[in-house]
Amino acid sequence: DPTQAIAPQLLAWYDANHRELPWRIAPRELAKGVRPDPYRVWLSEIMLQQTTVEAVKPYFRAFLKKWPDVSALAAADNEDVMKAWAGLGYYSRARNLKACANAVAAGGGAFPDTETDLRALPGIGPYTAAAIASIAFNRPAAVMDGNVERVMSRLYEIATPLPEAKPEIRALLETLVPNDRPGDFAQAMMDLGATVCTPRRPRCMLCPLRDDCLALAHGDPEFYPVKAAK
Ligand code: ADE
Repeated sequence: DPTQAIAPQLLAWYDANHRELPWRIAPRELAKGVRPDPYRVWLSEIMLQQTTVEAVKPYFRAFLKKWPDVSALAAADNEDVMKAWAGLGYYSRARNLKACANAVAAGGGAFPDTETDLRALPGIGPYTAAAIASIAFNRPAAVMDGNVERVMSRLYEIATPLPEAKPEIRALLETLVPNDRPGDFAQAMMDLGATVCTPRRPRCMLCPLRDDCLALAHGDPEFYPVKAAK
């Protein structure tokens, strides 16, 4: 059953090829039981929503330096937070970020550790809740962003265009998420989509999932995800 093989192959690839990013803990450290700080995971995921990894890096570092934890961010002036956000765009994210920090700090300073409770916070939707639950709290959540949708569309040759295909993709993704390393699995899917399974000219020769990819087997990964007729 190729489905059973996907997570181990992807995780082995991630161990060797993951991007080193300021909000990540190396897989070797994670294996020793070191856990990522939920505040850092949350902050990075909010910043990464409509902004590229390279653009986010300096902002992430600056925020951490100014406000090293959620209580510090809650105590900050709105004005200072908006200033530090300037340049990242989509300013509702910054307003929600501050509201979320205030709510978490008011509740004692600990982020909730389930998708349901995370979703009750300002600015945390299904994607962010799943990302925090899996990366920070090791919960087997299905984390779906554009990269993951593209990888899945190709792997399973999904004939339905996006966004209608999302429920189908989610159901398939849920069958793949491993219980032991769900956070690494999510980030491995993102890295694979960003560096190998790219929108154009995917590097299929380098893909750890090439033997399982239906689109590759049938000849045209670039055709997926299928575009809706205009
Ligand atoms: N994009 C959104 N979240 C990400 C993460 N944790 N790593 C890499 N790219 C991402």
